[in-house]
Amino acid sequence: MCGIIGYIGNRDAVPLLLKGLKRLEYRGYDSAGIAVLTDGQIHSIKKSGKVSQLEVLVDDTPMKGSIGIAHTRWATHGEPNDINAHPHLDHTGRIALIHNGIIENHETIRKVLEERDIPFTSDTDSEALVQLVSAMYFDDDELSFEGAFRAALQDVVGAYGVVAVCAEEPETVLAARMGSPLVIGIGEGEYFLASDASPIVEYTRNVIYLDEGEMVKLTPDNHSISRIDSSEIVSRGSVEIEMSIEQIEKGDFDHFMLKEIHEQKHTITDTMRGRLNLEDGTTHLGGIADFKPSILAADRVYITACGTSWHAALIGKQLIENYAQIPVDVEYASEFRYRNAIINPDTVLIAVSQSGETADTLAAIRKAKNLGALTIGICNVVGSSIARETDAGIYTHAGPEIGVASTKAFTAQVAVMTMLALSLGRRKGFDAGLGRDLTKALHHIDNDIQTILDDDQSIRKVAQDTHMVDNFLYLGRGINFPVALEGALKLKEISYIHAEGYPAAEMKHGPIALIDENMPVVFIAPRDDTYSKILSNIQEVKARRGIVISITDRKTRELDSLSDHLLEVPRTHKHVFPITASIILQLLAYHLAVLRGCEIDQPRNLAKSVTVE
Ligand code: M6R
Repeated sequence: MCGIIGYIGNRDAVPLLLKGLKRLEYRGYDSAGIAVLTDGQIHSIKKSGKVSQLEVLVDDTPMKGSIGIAHTRWATHGEPNDINAHPHLDHTGRIALIHNGIIENHETIRKVLEERDIPFTSDTDSEALVQLVSAMYFDDDELSFEGAFRAALQDVVGAYGVVAVCAEEPETVLAARMGSPLVIGIGEGEYFLASDASPIVEYTRNVIYLDEGEMVKLTPDNHSISRIDSSEIVSRGSVEIEMSIEQIEKGDFDHFMLKEIHEQKHTITDTMRGRLNLEDGTTHLGGIADFKPSILAADRVYITACGTSWHAALIGKQLIENYAQIPVDVEYASEFRYRNAIINPDTVLIAVSQSGETADTLAAIRKAKNLGALTIGICNVVGSSIARETDAGIYTHAGPEIGVASTKAFTAQVAVMTMLALSLGRRKGFDAGLGRDLTKALHHIDNDIQTILDDDQSIRKVAQDTHMVDNFLYLGRGINFPVALEGALKLKEISYIHAEGYPAAEMKHGPIALIDENMPVVFIAPRDDTYSKILSNIQEVKARRGIVISITDRKTRELDSLSDHLLEVPRTHKHVFPITASIILQLLAYHLAVLRGCEIDQPRNLAKSVTVE
C-alpha cells in the first residue's frame, strides 16, 4: 500500500529518490518523506500530503547524499500527519527505516521498549520496528547493524517490505520482505531498491525480486541475499525487466486513467497476441497448457479475487460455465481465506489480480495450495507474488497500470477469461464454428475500441448532463450484471458519487424505491436474448421519471425513444460486448469525475495495491 525506495551508489540520491516517489505515488499518497546519510548523520524531511509538498520542503532545506531512503504512505496506524510519515528514526536519530505493511505485535514491542524509557514520537506500528532494531543494535557491541536488523525482524509478527540505514555503518542499506514486495535494481557501482520496478527502469533493467522471508544487504559494490532466519547466503541470478519509460509516463494525456483507457485498443491485442486460433475457433494459453486436463477433471473450480478483478472473475464464471459446462464458484478472496470452503487435491483455484500482490488474494492461494489444490494465477504484473506462488498462470500483458482505478487491466482480465473459457470449451466439444465466431469478434475488438474512443464526445455529453447528481444505478443482465457492478465501482472510486450495480430484474425488489427524476440509471442493453426483458426494465424506470442512459450494440427505435441518452458500441459478439461496454462506462466515470473536479489518478483513501488485510 505504501511506496518505498532506497539508493546506494555515487549519484545525488535526493532527486533520484523524489522522482522515484512520484512514480510510486499511486501506491499511497497521504504523506511522504526522505532520509539521506551525509557526513555520518541522517538528515530526514517528512510531510503530510503529496510528494509535491515534500519536494517544496526539500527545495527550501537542501539535503545531499548518495545513500538514502524514501517513502510515500497509505496510512494504517496513525493519521496521515507529518510525524506519522516515514522514514521513522530511532530515539538516537542514528537509524532510519521505511516500512510497507503492518507490524501486528507493535503494541507489545512498544510497551517493552517504553518500559525501558525509550521515547516514541509517532502513532505508527512502523516506529516500533526501528526502535527495536535500535535497541538490539546499541545494546550489544558485538552485533552489527545487519545482525540487529535480522534479530529484530525475527521478533516481529506481521507483513513488511522494509528498508533501513544506520549512521554508524554508512556504507550499508538493509532491506527485507515478508508480505510486501521489494525489487533490487543492479547498476554499475550502485543499487536501487523499490516496491516495484517503475522507479528503477530508467537506471537499469537488471533486477532481482526478493522472495518472501528474504533480506538483502547492499553496499555500493555488492549485494548479499539471505533468509531472515538464517545468515546463510542465498544465490540468485538477476532478470531483465521489460517495462519501458513511456509505459509509466502520462505522455500528452491529462491523467494516467485516460491514457490507460485509450491504451486498451493496443493492450487487448497484446493480451491476445499469439493466443487466438482463428482457423480452429479456439485459443492457446501456453502457461496453462499442461494443466488443462486437471482443470477439466476438477471436482470444483473456484475463482477468487478482490474489487475490479472480482468482477472479471464473475464474468469468467459465466463464460466458463457457458463454453465448458464446468461449474464455477466465485469468491471474494477476503472471505474465502477465512471460511471453511471445500478444498482438496481435485480442486482448482484461479486467482485474478492486476498487481499480483493483493494480500487477501495471496492468502487465498496459500490456503488452497496447503490443502493440495491446483492454483492458477491471472496476473498483470510479471514476476509478482501471485504469479510466482501459483502453480501455473496466464499473464494479461496490459502493461503497467498507474491510475488507481483499474481500466485496461480489467478488460485484459476479461479477455483472458474469454480465451480460457473457449479453450476449455473446445476441449469439451464446444462447436468449432461457434468458436470461430468468438475468436473473429475478439480479433476485431481493437477497431471496435477505436470507434468508441472516437465518439468520446457523446459520453462527455452524458456526463455534462448528469454530473450534479448524488446517486447512480447500473443495471445489466447475465454476463452484463458484473459489467454493471464494475461501472458502479469505477464511478464511486473516482467521482465519489454513490453508485450501485444490480441485475436489472432485481430493481423491482428494492432499488426501484430510489428512482425519481434525479436518478440516472445506466442500462447495459446489448441486443442479445435478454434485450426484451431489459426493455421492460427500462419502461419501469421511465414510468418513474428516472434518467435512462442505455448502452447497446444495436440501436432500435424503441430503445432510442425510451432512453434519455443512448451510447452505442459497434455490433459485436455477445461475449465481447462486456469489454466494449465497460470502456464506455470507464469513460463515463472519468468525465463525471473530471467535471466534479476530483483527483482522477489518486482518489481519496485508495491505493493501487492492497498489500494489507
Ligand atoms: O491488484 P488487484 O487486481 O488484486 O487489486 C484488486 C482490487 O484492489 C482492485 O481491483 C481495486 O478494486 C481497484 N481500485 C479497482 O479499480
